[in-house]
Amino acid sequence: MISTATTLAGSNFDNCMMNASGVYCMDSDELLAVENSKAATFVTKSGTLQPRKGNPEPRYFETEFGSINSMGLPNNGVDYYLDFVSQDQINHPGKTYFLSITGFNLAEDLELLQKVTDSDFAGVVELNLSCPNVPGKPQTGYDFETVDAILKAVFDVYHKPLGVKLPPYFDIIHFDQMAEILNKYPLSYVNSINSIGNGLYINDDTETVVIKPKQGFGGIGGEYVKPTALANVHAFYQRLNKDIQIIGTGGIQTGKDIFEHILCGASMVQVGTALMVEGPVIFERLTAELEAIMAEKGYDNIEDFRGKLNYL
Ligand code: DOR
Repeated sequence: MISTATTLAGSNFDNCMMNASGVYCMDSDELLAVENSKAATFVTKSGTLQPRKGNPEPRYFETEFGSINSMGLPNNGVDYYLDFVSQDQINHPGKTYFLSITGFNLAEDLELLQKVTDSDFAGVVELNLSCPNVPGKPQTGYDFETVDAILKAVFDVYHKPLGVKLPPYFDIIHFDQMAEILNKYPLSYVNSINSIGNGLYINDDTETVVIKPKQGFGGIGGEYVKPTALANVHAFYQRLNKDIQIIGTGGIQTGKDIFEHILCGASMVQVGTALMVEGPVIFERLTAELEAIMAEKGYDNIEDFRGKLNYL
């Protein structure tokens, strides 16, 4: 019997795939659509202290090989997501959900975590350190000292399962340096990657950019980013303590893409751009495709091949 089940952050999941934060997770309708699909669970849109409208539209554009977005963290505010998940976990005992949060500085991160502590939330927190789209706010994950300071302060006060969403890194020395920082803390997981920040897609007929914020610059997702995502997943798999697990995000359109992320070391994968295109029904196709690959290769469960990438 082939199983795509996994274990992450101390919880068991009957499947190893879910939505990526930002896609199908803005409100209760979207979260319930993922909940009622073949996905293992859901992660919410990154909640901020106050609700946000985000950047002016158009702010998301599908391209031939993926997407460009500059949403600017539109969200209903962390209280909304905490209330929703706290209720949903009562309706589904035994299921574990992910709450994404993002503050604009350390004090806000700590205030967000205090709200989580004060709530009935019993799931996993994903701290987003990598949004590329808020004008004037850098991607925290590229400021190594600040990441270290944030994690130190976070784990001084928060002792429940927590992972971080990271931007992509492109240099071996950066994998080394970031892994050294991450290994100091009791992280449940790292999620690699967020979109590749500040790409530019243009329409050469009209000679214009395709999204309005930031004169067209935005985060790139989809097929373009899979090799970068796999590199980040595997680089951290090679470097992190084995009790820090990895969620692989980036470029997943087929079961083959999921197989590759797991081969690189991912214990769970998240789907963004392709979920936006196909909707939550995509998880049926992805599950069937992954199972077919496993059957052909004689694998019964994902631990049979997770992280077992061969080198030449
Ligand atoms: O590409 C992204 N877009 N990554 C994030 O972390 C946030 C999102 C947005 O809202 O702009």
